[in-house]
Amino acid sequence: MKYKIIKIQEEIDGKLSEVTNTKEVLDLKVAYLGKKGSVSELTNMLSKLDIEEKKEYGALINNLKQDINQKIEVTIEKLAESEINKKIEKETIDTTLPASNIGVGGTHPITKTIDEVEELFVSMGYDVVEGPEVELDLYNFEKLNLPKGHPARDAQDSFYITDEVLLRTQTSPVQARTMEANLEKGPIRMICPGKTYRRDDDDATHSHQFHQIEGLVIDKDISLADLKGTLEVFAKKVFGEGRKIRFRPGFFPFTEPSIEVDVSCFKCGGEGCSLCKNIGWIEILGAGMVHPNVLINCGYDPDKYQGFAFGMGPERIAMLKYGINDIRNFYINDLRFLNMFNRINGGDDNETK
Ligand code: PHE
Repeated sequence: MKYKIIKIQEEIDGKLSEVTNTKEVLDLKVAYLGKKGSVSELTNMLSKLDIEEKKEYGALINNLKQDINQKIEVTIEKLAESEINKKIEKETIDTTLPASNIGVGGTHPITKTIDEVEELFVSMGYDVVEGPEVELDLYNFEKLNLPKGHPARDAQDSFYITDEVLLRTQTSPVQARTMEANLEKGPIRMICPGKTYRRDDDDATHSHQFHQIEGLVIDKDISLADLKGTLEVFAKKVFGEGRKIRFRPGFFPFTEPSIEVDVSCFKCGGEGCSLCKNIGWIEILGAGMVHPNVLINCGYDPDKYQGFAFGMGPERIAMLKYGINDIRNFYINDLRFLNMFNRINGGDDNETK
């Protein structure tokens, strides 16, 4: 009997030291202390013993029961603690691990170009204004000295919505709208960036939707010299110090005289290279003195007021500046292209200085 008690004691000690979870411990409890467990079997055997032996072994068996119960409790506590520790260990944050790369958006090259031009003109006291993209024929053409049937309308093949409404083919209608809105309110100095639309087939240099930045100054005693001075500042800011500009005669129905403006080549400095096609000059925008008919159409007396206007394409400026040879790159949202303009993602600003 004694031997059996000692054996059970050893057995349970060995088994408890090997358990890995609470369920195993509870199973052991049933196997030893349960109704049909080994300890209960011992108790049943007591009935066959005499009174002295009953006393002796009864006490031993009770001790054994208590001992097993206590050990089971301790083991369960230990297991719970180690389970918590394991969980905590798993959830630890390793602050020394390198951070994952979070993608950050950047400014689109066209927006960047517009921002740069805006910033410059705002610093010279210009307002930035907007006009509707769905425009009246009246403002897109008629008030700008392009009456119905005027041959110059053909050069701006238009998306008409009705006979009188179209998607604006240029930002110049905002000239007329701004003049009308500021009648009798003193001088005007504004630029207007925005989207424009023409029925062109898309290719490397054409897009049915593109951008323009319009400029307009109306005041007394404004001359071509003011226009030239202004555009010189613009060319130096956008294409680099040391740039020169030149005026060539041009034609726009809403300006007289009309001029095409060239900037000295910023790649070769004017000596001739592939970018300027060996001319030394690159055409960047159209401009001129506001035509007297336009002033009259918008309510101004051309004997009192004069003005100059210019219109440029941010796509063309960005293409020249960043060496991009297909205008479609701006619209297809290829991140490899766009990220080149985004310093944060490792791209280079690549500005021509
Ligand atoms: N609107 C003209 C164009 O689209 C550009 C321009 C604007 C020319 C203002 C002169 C003055 O070609």
